[in-house]
Amino acid sequence: MSSQPLNVAIIGAGLSGLSLAVALQQQNISCTLYERLASPLNIGGAVMLSPNALKILDALSVYPRIRNKGYSFETLEYKDGDGKLMEVYEFGGEAKYGYKGLRIYRTALIEELLEILREQGVKLVFGKKFKRVVEESEDGVKWEFEDGEIGEASLLVGADGINSSVRKYLYPDLTPTFTGGIGITAAVPTSQLKLPPGYHIPVTVMTPHGGFVIAPQEVDGPEVLIGKQKRVEKDHGRAGWDAISADKEALVKFLQQGAENFPDFVQNAVSSIPHGKINVWPFYVVPKLDKLTSEKRRVIILGDGAHAIPPSAGQGINQAFEDVYMFALLLGQADKVDMQEALKFWQEYREQRIAQVLKLNKQIEMRRMTEEEKLKENIPAGSIHEIELSSLYKPDFKKDVDDWVAAKTVAA
Ligand SMILES: Cc1cc2nc3c(=O)[nH]c(=O)nc-3n(C[C@H](O)[C@H](O)[C@H](O)COP(=O)(O)OP(=O)(O)OC[C@H]3O[C@@H](n4cnc5c(N)ncnc54)[C@H](O)[C@@H]3O)c2cc1C
Ligand SMILES: *[C@@H]1O[C@H](CO)[C@@H](O)[C@H](O)[C@H]1NC(C)=O
Ligand SMILES: *[C@@H]1O[C@H](CO)[C@@H](O)[C@H](O)[C@H]1NC(C)=O
Repeated sequence: MSSQPLNVAIIGAGLSGLSLAVALQQQNISCTLYERLASPLNIGGAVMLSPNALKILDALSVYPRIRNKGYSFETLEYKDGDGKLMEVYEFGGEAKYGYKGLRIYRTALIEELLEILREQGVKLVFGKKFKRVVEESEDGVKWEFEDGEIGEASLLVGADGINSSVRKYLYPDLTPTFTGGIGITAAVPTSQLKLPPGYHIPVTVMTPHGGFVIAPQEVDGPEVLIGKQKRVEKDHGRAGWDAISADKEALVKFLQQGAENFPDFVQNAVSSIPHGKINVWPFYVVPKLDKLTSEKRRVIILGDGAHAIPPSAGQGINQAFEDVYMFALLLGQADKVDMQEALKFWQEYREQRIAQVLKLNKQIEMRRMTEEEKLKENIPAGSIHEIELSSLYKPDFKKDVDDWVAAKTVAA
Protein backbone atom coordinates (compact mmCIF):
# COMPACT_ATOMS: atom_id res chain seq x y z
CA MET A 1 0.00 0.00 0.00
CA SER A 2 2.45 2.55 -1.19
CA SER A 3 1.39 6.13 -1.65
CA GLN A 4 3.82 6.65 -4.50
CA PRO A 5 2.10 6.60 -7.87
CA LEU A 6 2.96 3.58 -9.95
CA ASN A 7 4.68 3.89 -13.25
CA VAL A 8 5.00 0.93 -15.54
CA ALA A 9 7.54 0.16 -18.25
CA ILE A 10 6.22 -2.17 -20.95
CA ILE A 11 8.68 -4.07 -23.11
CA GLY A 12 7.19 -4.92 -26.51
CA ALA A 13 4.55 -3.12 -28.56
CA GLY A 14 2.72 -6.18 -29.87
CA LEU A 15 -0.96 -6.70 -29.17
CA SER A 16 -0.25 -7.47 -25.49
CA GLY A 17 1.90 -4.41 -24.88
CA LEU A 18 -0.32 -2.00 -26.77
CA SER A 19 -3.51 -3.20 -25.11
CA LEU A 20 -1.83 -3.10 -21.71
CA ALA A 21 -0.98 0.56 -22.26
CA VAL A 22 -4.62 1.27 -23.12
CA ALA A 23 -5.82 -0.61 -20.03
CA LEU A 24 -3.36 1.18 -17.72
CA GLN A 25 -4.37 4.50 -19.18
CA GLN A 26 -7.96 3.74 -18.19
CA GLN A 27 -6.73 3.21 -14.62
CA ASN A 28 -4.80 6.49 -14.74
CA ILE A 29 -1.52 4.65 -14.32
CA SER A 30 1.34 6.11 -16.27
CA CYS A 31 3.35 3.87 -18.54
CA THR A 32 5.96 3.90 -21.29
CA LEU A 33 6.24 1.35 -24.08
CA TYR A 34 9.56 0.21 -25.53
CA GLU A 35 9.70 -1.66 -28.83
CA ARG A 36 12.89 -3.04 -30.33
CA LEU A 37 11.69 -2.58 -33.91
CA ALA A 38 11.35 0.72 -35.73
CA SER A 39 7.61 0.08 -36.17
CA PRO A 40 5.19 -2.55 -34.85
CA LEU A 41 5.96 -6.14 -35.77
CA ASN A 42 3.73 -7.19 -38.64
CA ILE A 43 3.25 -10.95 -38.63
CA GLY A 44 0.57 -10.47 -41.27
CA GLY A 45 -2.82 -12.08 -41.57
CA ALA A 46 -5.85 -11.83 -39.36
CA VAL A 47 -6.67 -12.89 -35.81
CA MET A 48 -9.94 -14.17 -34.41
CA LEU A 49 -11.30 -12.53 -31.30
CA SER A 50 -13.76 -14.40 -29.10
CA PRO A 51 -16.34 -12.95 -26.65
CA ASN A 52 -14.02 -13.16 -23.61
CA ALA A 53 -11.60 -10.80 -25.38
CA LEU A 54 -14.25 -8.64 -27.07
CA LYS A 55 -15.89 -7.88 -23.73
CA ILE A 56 -12.51 -6.62 -22.55
CA LEU A 57 -11.91 -4.59 -25.69
CA ASP A 58 -15.40 -3.14 -25.21
CA ALA A 59 -14.62 -2.15 -21.62
CA LEU A 60 -11.46 -0.46 -22.98
CA SER A 61 -13.52 1.42 -25.61
CA VAL A 62 -11.64 -0.37 -28.39
CA TYR A 63 -14.39 -2.66 -29.67
CA PRO A 64 -16.68 0.10 -31.05
CA ARG A 65 -13.72 1.32 -33.09
CA ILE A 66 -12.87 -2.05 -34.63
CA ARG A 67 -16.14 -3.93 -34.98
CA ASN A 68 -16.81 -2.65 -38.48
CA LYS A 69 -13.25 -3.26 -39.59
CA GLY A 70 -13.47 -7.01 -39.30
CA TYR A 71 -15.73 -9.91 -40.12
CA SER A 72 -18.26 -10.86 -37.44
CA PHE A 73 -19.32 -14.49 -37.31
CA GLU A 74 -20.64 -16.98 -34.79
CA THR A 75 -19.48 -20.43 -35.80
CA LEU A 76 -16.68 -22.35 -37.39
CA GLU A 77 -18.09 -25.24 -39.35
CA TYR A 78 -16.47 -28.59 -39.98
CA LYS A 79 -17.71 -30.31 -43.09
CA ASP A 80 -16.74 -33.46 -44.87
CA GLY A 81 -15.77 -33.61 -48.52
CA ASP A 82 -19.40 -34.06 -49.57
CA GLY A 83 -20.50 -30.92 -47.76
CA LYS A 84 -22.11 -32.77 -44.86
CA LEU A 85 -21.91 -30.81 -41.60
CA MET A 86 -19.83 -32.79 -39.12
CA GLU A 87 -19.46 -30.32 -36.32
CA VAL A 88 -20.07 -26.73 -35.37
CA TYR A 89 -17.66 -24.92 -33.10
CA GLU A 90 -18.97 -21.72 -31.60
CA PHE A 91 -16.44 -18.91 -31.74
CA GLY A 92 -18.96 -16.41 -30.43
CA GLY A 93 -22.68 -15.78 -30.22
CA GLU A 94 -24.49 -12.56 -29.57
CA ALA A 95 -27.37 -14.11 -27.63
CA LYS A 96 -25.38 -16.71 -25.78
CA TYR A 97 -22.08 -15.01 -25.06
CA GLY A 98 -22.76 -11.32 -25.63
CA TYR A 99 -20.58 -11.00 -28.72
CA LYS A 100 -20.09 -12.56 -32.09
CA GLY A 101 -16.57 -13.61 -32.94
CA LEU A 102 -14.57 -11.04 -34.86
CA ARG A 103 -11.94 -11.82 -37.43
CA ILE A 104 -9.74 -8.82 -38.08
CA TYR A 105 -6.44 -8.05 -39.77
CA ARG A 106 -3.72 -7.87 -37.17
CA THR A 107 -2.49 -4.59 -38.64
CA ALA A 108 -5.98 -3.05 -38.39
CA LEU A 109 -6.10 -3.88 -34.69
CA ILE A 110 -2.57 -2.66 -34.05
CA GLU A 111 -3.22 0.58 -35.93
CA GLU A 112 -6.34 1.29 -33.87
CA LEU A 113 -4.55 0.66 -30.57
CA LEU A 114 -1.70 2.93 -31.69
CA GLU A 115 -4.19 5.62 -32.62
CA ILE A 116 -5.81 5.43 -29.17
CA LEU A 117 -2.43 5.69 -27.48
CA ARG A 118 -1.53 8.69 -29.67
CA GLU A 119 -4.79 10.39 -28.69
CA GLN A 120 -3.99 9.74 -25.03
CA GLY A 121 -0.42 10.92 -25.35
CA VAL A 122 1.16 7.68 -24.13
CA LYS A 123 4.91 7.54 -24.63
CA LEU A 124 6.02 4.91 -27.11
CA VAL A 125 9.71 4.47 -27.93
CA PHE A 126 10.53 2.51 -31.07
CA GLY A 127 13.94 1.08 -31.85
CA LYS A 128 14.67 0.48 -28.16
CA LYS A 129 15.65 -3.04 -27.24
CA PHE A 130 15.51 -4.34 -23.70
CA LYS A 131 18.60 -6.30 -22.67
CA ARG A 132 18.50 -7.33 -19.01
CA VAL A 133 17.24 -6.54 -15.54
CA VAL A 134 19.96 -4.83 -13.54
CA GLU A 135 18.41 -4.60 -10.11
CA GLU A 136 15.10 -5.20 -8.40
CA SER A 137 14.25 -3.64 -5.04
CA GLU A 138 11.19 -3.44 -2.81
CA ASP A 139 9.78 -0.51 -4.71
CA GLY A 140 11.19 -0.57 -8.17
CA VAL A 141 13.28 -2.10 -10.88
CA LYS A 142 16.20 -1.00 -13.04
CA TRP A 143 17.10 -2.51 -16.37
CA GLU A 144 19.49 -2.01 -19.24
CA PHE A 145 18.71 -1.48 -22.89
CA GLU A 146 20.84 -2.90 -25.68
CA ASP A 147 22.29 0.59 -26.25
CA GLY A 148 23.54 0.75 -22.66
CA GLU A 149 20.94 3.14 -21.32
CA ILE A 150 19.50 2.32 -17.90
CA GLY A 151 15.75 2.50 -17.36
CA GLU A 152 13.86 2.67 -14.09
CA ALA A 153 10.21 2.17 -13.14
CA SER A 154 8.07 0.79 -10.34
CA LEU A 155 7.13 -2.21 -12.47
CA LEU A 156 8.63 -3.80 -15.57
CA VAL A 157 6.29 -5.81 -17.77
CA GLY A 158 7.62 -8.19 -20.39
CA ALA A 159 5.09 -8.18 -23.24
CA ASP A 160 7.91 -9.17 -25.57
CA GLY A 161 6.47 -12.26 -27.17
CA ILE A 162 7.25 -15.94 -27.27
CA ASN A 163 11.05 -15.50 -27.26
CA SER A 164 10.80 -12.99 -24.40
CA SER A 165 14.03 -11.49 -23.08
CA VAL A 166 12.36 -10.23 -19.90
CA ARG A 167 11.39 -13.84 -19.14
CA LYS A 168 15.10 -14.66 -18.89
CA TYR A 169 15.16 -12.82 -15.57
CA LEU A 170 12.64 -15.34 -14.18
CA TYR A 171 13.73 -18.37 -16.20
CA PRO A 172 17.29 -18.01 -17.47
CA ASP A 173 17.34 -21.37 -19.24
CA LEU A 174 13.86 -21.70 -20.64
CA THR A 175 13.26 -21.90 -24.36
CA PRO A 176 9.91 -22.50 -26.07
CA THR A 177 9.38 -26.03 -27.35
CA PHE A 178 8.32 -26.88 -30.85
CA THR A 179 5.07 -28.85 -30.95
CA GLY A 180 5.81 -30.65 -34.19
CA GLY A 181 3.08 -28.81 -36.05
CA ILE A 182 3.19 -25.94 -38.48
CA GLY A 183 0.43 -23.98 -40.12
CA ILE A 184 0.78 -22.88 -43.73
CA THR A 185 -1.61 -20.20 -44.86
CA ALA A 186 -2.14 -17.98 -47.88
CA ALA A 187 -4.58 -15.37 -49.05
CA VAL A 188 -6.37 -15.84 -52.37
CA PRO A 189 -9.07 -13.86 -54.19
CA THR A 190 -12.52 -14.80 -52.88
CA SER A 191 -13.91 -14.89 -56.43
CA GLN A 192 -11.43 -17.60 -57.40
CA LEU A 193 -13.11 -20.16 -55.09
CA LYS A 194 -16.57 -20.08 -56.70
CA LEU A 195 -18.05 -21.13 -53.37
CA PRO A 196 -21.48 -22.69 -53.65
CA PRO A 197 -24.12 -19.98 -52.91
CA GLY A 198 -24.76 -19.68 -49.18
CA TYR A 199 -21.80 -21.89 -48.22
CA HIS A 200 -20.77 -20.91 -44.68
CA ILE A 201 -17.26 -19.72 -44.00
CA PRO A 202 -15.13 -19.96 -41.85
CA VAL A 203 -15.03 -23.66 -42.60
CA THR A 204 -12.65 -26.56 -42.21
CA VAL A 205 -13.19 -29.23 -44.80
CA MET A 206 -12.22 -32.52 -43.19
CA THR A 207 -11.36 -35.52 -45.28
CA PRO A 208 -9.36 -38.60 -44.35
CA HIS A 209 -6.47 -36.68 -45.93
CA GLY A 210 -6.64 -33.95 -43.29
CA GLY A 211 -8.27 -30.56 -42.95
CA PHE A 212 -8.38 -27.53 -45.22
CA VAL A 213 -9.33 -24.17 -43.72
CA ILE A 214 -11.08 -21.31 -45.48
CA ALA A 215 -11.74 -18.10 -43.55
CA PRO A 216 -12.95 -14.64 -44.55
CA GLN A 217 -10.84 -11.64 -43.60
CA GLU A 218 -13.40 -8.85 -43.98
CA VAL A 219 -17.10 -8.45 -44.75
CA ASP A 220 -17.46 -9.06 -48.48
CA GLY A 221 -13.69 -8.96 -48.54
CA PRO A 222 -11.79 -9.44 -51.78
CA GLU A 223 -9.66 -12.21 -50.30
CA VAL A 224 -9.96 -15.23 -48.03
CA LEU A 225 -7.41 -17.08 -45.98
CA ILE A 226 -6.71 -20.66 -46.91
CA GLY A 227 -4.55 -23.01 -44.90
CA LYS A 228 -3.42 -26.46 -43.94
CA GLN A 229 -1.43 -27.90 -41.10
CA LYS A 230 1.54 -30.17 -41.40
CA ARG A 231 3.45 -32.42 -39.04
CA VAL A 232 7.17 -31.70 -39.03
CA GLU A 233 9.52 -33.94 -37.07
CA LYS A 234 12.16 -31.49 -36.01
CA ASP A 235 12.52 -27.93 -34.83
CA HIS A 236 14.21 -26.13 -37.72
CA GLY A 237 15.05 -23.04 -35.68
CA ARG A 238 14.77 -19.49 -36.86
CA ALA A 239 17.09 -19.79 -39.88
CA GLY A 240 15.48 -23.07 -40.91
CA TRP A 241 11.95 -21.69 -40.73
CA ASP A 242 13.03 -18.61 -42.64
CA ALA A 243 14.39 -20.84 -45.40
CA ILE A 244 11.17 -22.86 -45.45
CA SER A 245 9.13 -19.63 -45.58
CA ALA A 246 11.26 -18.37 -48.46
CA ASP A 247 10.64 -21.40 -50.67
CA LYS A 248 7.26 -20.24 -51.95
CA GLU A 249 7.01 -22.82 -54.72
CA ALA A 250 7.32 -25.67 -52.21
CA LEU A 251 4.67 -24.08 -50.00
CA VAL A 252 2.29 -23.68 -52.91
CA LYS A 253 2.87 -27.36 -53.76
CA PHE A 254 2.07 -28.36 -50.21
CA LEU A 255 -1.18 -26.39 -50.24
CA GLN A 256 -2.10 -27.96 -53.58
CA GLN A 257 -1.13 -31.47 -52.60
CA GLY A 258 -4.10 -33.83 -52.34
CA ALA A 259 -6.58 -31.14 -53.44
CA GLU A 260 -8.18 -33.70 -55.72
CA ASN A 261 -9.59 -35.34 -52.60
CA PHE A 262 -11.44 -32.14 -51.73
CA PRO A 263 -14.47 -30.36 -53.22
CA ASP A 264 -14.13 -28.18 -56.32
CA PHE A 265 -13.91 -24.91 -54.41
CA VAL A 266 -10.82 -26.16 -52.57
CA GLN A 267 -9.25 -27.09 -55.89
CA ASN A 268 -10.19 -23.62 -57.19
CA ALA A 269 -8.74 -22.05 -54.05
CA VAL A 270 -5.30 -23.58 -54.63
CA SER A 271 -5.32 -23.24 -58.42
CA SER A 272 -3.36 -20.01 -58.20
CA ILE A 273 -1.71 -18.78 -55.02
CA PRO A 274 0.09 -15.41 -54.90
CA HIS A 275 3.52 -15.85 -53.31
CA GLY A 276 3.38 -12.56 -51.44
CA LYS A 277 0.84 -13.64 -48.84
CA ILE A 278 2.01 -17.10 -47.90
CA ASN A 279 2.75 -17.50 -44.20
CA VAL A 280 4.46 -20.25 -42.24
CA TRP A 281 3.60 -20.49 -38.56
CA PRO A 282 5.59 -23.06 -36.57
CA PHE A 283 3.67 -23.84 -33.39
CA TYR A 284 5.79 -23.38 -30.29
CA VAL A 285 4.62 -23.59 -26.71
CA VAL A 286 5.99 -22.14 -23.52
CA PRO A 287 5.98 -24.94 -20.95
CA LYS A 288 3.67 -24.40 -18.00
CA LEU A 289 5.28 -21.77 -15.78
CA ASP A 290 4.80 -21.76 -12.04
CA LYS A 291 5.46 -18.06 -11.72
CA LEU A 292 4.66 -15.09 -13.93
CA THR A 293 6.22 -12.55 -11.60
CA SER A 294 9.59 -12.22 -9.89
CA GLU A 295 9.99 -12.85 -6.16
CA LYS A 296 9.56 -9.17 -5.27
CA ARG A 297 6.86 -8.96 -7.94
CA ARG A 298 8.41 -5.98 -9.70
CA VAL A 299 9.00 -7.89 -12.94
CA ILE A 300 6.00 -9.46 -14.67
CA ILE A 301 5.60 -11.41 -17.90
CA LEU A 302 2.38 -11.74 -19.86
CA GLY A 303 1.01 -12.55 -23.30
CA ASP A 304 2.85 -15.05 -25.49
CA GLY A 305 5.99 -14.82 -23.36
CA ALA A 306 4.05 -16.25 -20.43
CA HIS A 307 1.94 -18.81 -22.23
CA ALA A 308 2.28 -19.26 -25.98
CA ILE A 309 -0.39 -21.86 -26.63
CA PRO A 310 -1.15 -23.99 -29.67
CA PRO A 311 -3.73 -22.46 -31.98
CA SER A 312 -6.35 -25.22 -31.75
CA ALA A 313 -8.94 -23.19 -29.84
CA GLY A 314 -7.80 -19.90 -31.36
CA GLN A 315 -7.13 -18.48 -27.89
CA GLY A 316 -3.54 -17.20 -28.19
CA ILE A 317 -4.21 -13.53 -28.43
CA ASN A 318 -7.52 -13.72 -26.59
CA GLN A 319 -5.77 -14.98 -23.47
CA ALA A 320 -3.26 -12.16 -23.74
CA PHE A 321 -6.08 -9.61 -23.54
CA GLU A 322 -7.32 -11.34 -20.40
CA ASP A 323 -3.84 -11.13 -18.83
CA VAL A 324 -3.58 -7.47 -19.59
CA TYR A 325 -7.03 -6.39 -18.49
CA MET A 326 -6.99 -8.12 -15.12
CA PHE A 327 -3.47 -6.94 -14.45
CA ALA A 328 -4.47 -3.31 -15.08
CA LEU A 329 -7.64 -3.63 -12.97
CA LEU A 330 -5.61 -4.93 -10.05
CA LEU A 331 -2.97 -2.22 -10.36
CA GLY A 332 -5.84 0.25 -10.31
CA GLN A 333 -6.54 -0.94 -6.76
CA ALA A 334 -3.00 -0.29 -5.56
CA ASP A 335 -4.19 2.16 -2.91
CA LYS A 336 -6.58 -0.41 -1.39
CA VAL A 337 -4.77 -3.73 -1.44
CA ASP A 338 -1.29 -5.08 -1.05
CA MET A 339 0.27 -5.26 -4.52
CA GLN A 340 2.24 -8.40 -3.72
CA GLU A 341 -0.98 -10.18 -2.85
CA ALA A 342 -2.82 -8.73 -5.82
CA LEU A 343 -0.16 -9.98 -8.22
CA LYS A 344 -0.20 -13.39 -6.57
CA PHE A 345 -3.96 -13.51 -7.11
CA TRP A 346 -3.46 -12.45 -10.75
CA GLN A 347 -0.84 -15.13 -11.32
CA GLU A 348 -2.99 -17.91 -9.88
CA TYR A 349 -6.08 -16.79 -11.76
CA ARG A 350 -4.20 -16.62 -15.04
CA GLU A 351 -2.59 -20.00 -14.56
CA GLN A 352 -6.01 -21.56 -14.04
CA ARG A 353 -7.36 -19.95 -17.18
CA ILE A 354 -4.43 -21.12 -19.29
CA ALA A 355 -4.80 -24.65 -17.93
CA GLN A 356 -8.46 -24.54 -18.95
CA VAL A 357 -7.57 -23.45 -22.48
CA LEU A 358 -4.90 -26.14 -22.82
CA LYS A 359 -7.48 -28.75 -21.84
CA LEU A 360 -9.89 -27.42 -24.43
CA ASN A 361 -7.10 -27.42 -27.03
CA LYS A 362 -6.48 -31.10 -26.36
CA GLN A 363 -10.14 -31.95 -26.91
CA ILE A 364 -10.22 -30.03 -30.16
CA GLU A 365 -6.98 -31.54 -31.44
CA MET A 366 -8.33 -35.02 -30.87
CA ARG A 367 -11.41 -34.21 -32.88
CA ARG A 368 -9.34 -32.91 -35.77
CA MET A 369 -7.01 -35.84 -36.20
CA THR A 370 -7.07 -37.97 -39.29
CA GLU A 371 -8.11 -41.59 -38.72
CA GLU A 372 -4.48 -42.58 -39.16
CA GLU A 373 -3.27 -40.14 -36.51
CA LYS A 374 -5.96 -41.27 -34.07
CA LEU A 375 -4.76 -44.83 -34.43
CA LYS A 376 -1.14 -43.79 -34.01
CA GLU A 377 -1.87 -41.79 -30.87
CA ASN A 378 -4.01 -44.56 -29.47
CA ILE A 379 -7.04 -42.45 -28.94
CA PRO A 380 -9.93 -44.60 -27.80
CA ALA A 381 -13.36 -43.98 -29.25
CA GLY A 382 -15.63 -41.91 -27.05
CA SER A 383 -12.80 -40.16 -25.21
CA ILE A 384 -13.68 -36.75 -26.58
CA HIS A 385 -15.84 -34.76 -24.25
CA GLU A 386 -18.51 -32.22 -24.93
CA ILE A 387 -16.89 -28.83 -25.08
CA GLU A 388 -17.98 -26.33 -22.49
CA LEU A 389 -17.52 -22.93 -24.03
CA SER A 390 -19.53 -20.80 -21.63
CA SER A 391 -16.84 -20.87 -19.00
CA LEU A 392 -14.32 -19.85 -21.64
CA TYR A 393 -16.31 -16.99 -23.13
CA LYS A 394 -18.31 -15.61 -20.23
CA PRO A 395 -16.18 -14.86 -17.20
CA ASP A 396 -16.67 -11.44 -15.65
CA PHE A 397 -13.10 -10.36 -14.94
CA LYS A 398 -14.08 -7.01 -13.49
CA LYS A 399 -16.44 -8.66 -11.02
CA ASP A 400 -13.85 -11.28 -10.09
CA VAL A 401 -11.34 -8.54 -9.34
CA ASP A 402 -13.87 -6.42 -7.44
CA ASP A 403 -14.96 -9.43 -5.38
CA TRP A 404 -11.39 -10.29 -4.52
CA VAL A 405 -10.62 -6.69 -3.54
CA ALA A 406 -13.81 -6.50 -1.45
CA ALA A 407 -12.93 -9.70 0.40
CA LYS A 408 -9.41 -8.42 1.06
CA THR A 409 -10.50 -5.01 2.30
CA VAL A 410 -13.11 -6.54 4.64
CA ALA A 411 -10.50 -8.89 5.99
CA ALA A 412 -8.04 -6.06 6.56
C1 LIG B 1 1.63 -16.50 -38.45
C2 LIG B 1 0.93 -16.38 -37.14
C3 LIG B 1 -0.46 -16.38 -37.10
C4 LIG B 1 -1.15 -16.27 -35.89
N1 LIG B 1 -2.51 -16.29 -35.90
C5 LIG B 1 -3.20 -16.18 -34.73
C6 LIG B 1 -4.62 -16.17 -34.69
O1 LIG B 1 -5.28 -16.27 -35.72
N2 LIG B 1 -5.23 -16.06 -33.49
C7 LIG B 1 -4.53 -15.96 -32.33
O2 LIG B 1 -5.14 -15.85 -31.25
N3 LIG B 1 -3.19 -15.97 -32.33
C8 LIG B 1 -2.51 -16.07 -33.49
N4 LIG B 1 -1.15 -16.09 -33.47
C9 LIG B 1 -0.48 -15.98 -32.18
C10 LIG B 1 -0.48 -14.51 -31.81
O3 LIG B 1 0.17 -13.84 -32.85
C11 LIG B 1 0.20 -14.28 -30.51
O4 LIG B 1 -0.53 -14.92 -29.50
C12 LIG B 1 0.28 -12.77 -30.22
O5 LIG B 1 0.93 -12.09 -31.25
C13 LIG B 1 0.98 -12.54 -28.93
O6 LIG B 1 1.08 -11.17 -28.72
P1 LIG B 1 2.22 -10.58 -27.84
O7 LIG B 1 1.99 -9.11 -27.86
O8 LIG B 1 2.23 -11.27 -26.52
O9 LIG B 1 3.57 -10.96 -28.57
P2 LIG B 1 4.12 -10.48 -29.99
O10 LIG B 1 3.04 -10.23 -30.94
O11 LIG B 1 5.19 -11.44 -30.37
O12 LIG B 1 4.79 -9.06 -29.69
C14 LIG B 1 5.99 -8.94 -28.96
C15 LIG B 1 6.61 -7.60 -29.28
O13 LIG B 1 7.76 -7.42 -28.45
C16 LIG B 1 8.84 -6.94 -29.22
N5 LIG B 1 10.08 -7.35 -28.56
C17 LIG B 1 10.59 -8.61 -28.47
N6 LIG B 1 11.74 -8.59 -27.77
C18 LIG B 1 11.96 -7.30 -27.40
C19 LIG B 1 13.00 -6.65 -26.65
N7 LIG B 1 14.04 -7.33 -26.15
N8 LIG B 1 12.90 -5.32 -26.45
C20 LIG B 1 11.84 -4.60 -26.97
N9 LIG B 1 10.86 -5.17 -27.68
C21 LIG B 1 10.91 -6.51 -27.89
C22 LIG B 1 8.63 -7.59 -30.58
O14 LIG B 1 9.32 -6.91 -31.61
C23 LIG B 1 7.11 -7.51 -30.72
O15 LIG B 1 6.69 -6.31 -31.29
C24 LIG B 1 -0.44 -16.19 -34.68
C25 LIG B 1 0.96 -16.19 -34.70
C26 LIG B 1 1.64 -16.28 -35.91
C27 LIG B 1 3.15 -16.29 -35.90
C1 LIG C 1 -8.99 8.63 -14.08
O1 LIG C 1 -8.98 10.04 -14.16
C2 LIG C 1 -10.17 10.59 -14.70
C3 LIG C 1 -9.95 12.10 -14.88
O2 LIG C 1 -9.33 12.65 -13.76
C4 LIG C 1 -11.34 10.23 -13.80
O3 LIG C 1 -12.54 10.73 -14.33
C5 LIG C 1 -11.45 8.71 -13.68
O4 LIG C 1 -12.45 8.36 -12.78
C6 LIG C 1 -10.13 8.13 -13.22
N1 LIG C 1 -10.22 6.68 -13.30
C7 LIG C 1 -9.83 5.87 -12.33
C8 LIG C 1 -10.01 4.40 -12.56
O5 LIG C 1 -9.35 6.25 -11.29
C1 LIG D 1 11.09 -17.25 -31.76
O1 LIG D 1 12.12 -18.17 -32.00
C2 LIG D 1 11.79 -19.15 -32.98
C3 LIG D 1 12.89 -20.19 -32.98
O2 LIG D 1 14.16 -19.61 -33.00
C4 LIG D 1 11.61 -18.47 -34.32
O3 LIG D 1 11.31 -19.42 -35.34
C5 LIG D 1 10.48 -17.46 -34.20
O4 LIG D 1 10.35 -16.72 -35.39
C6 LIG D 1 10.69 -16.50 -33.03
N1 LIG D 1 9.45 -15.77 -32.82
C7 LIG D 1 9.38 -14.46 -32.72
C8 LIG D 1 8.01 -13.87 -32.58
O5 LIG D 1 10.37 -13.74 -32.72
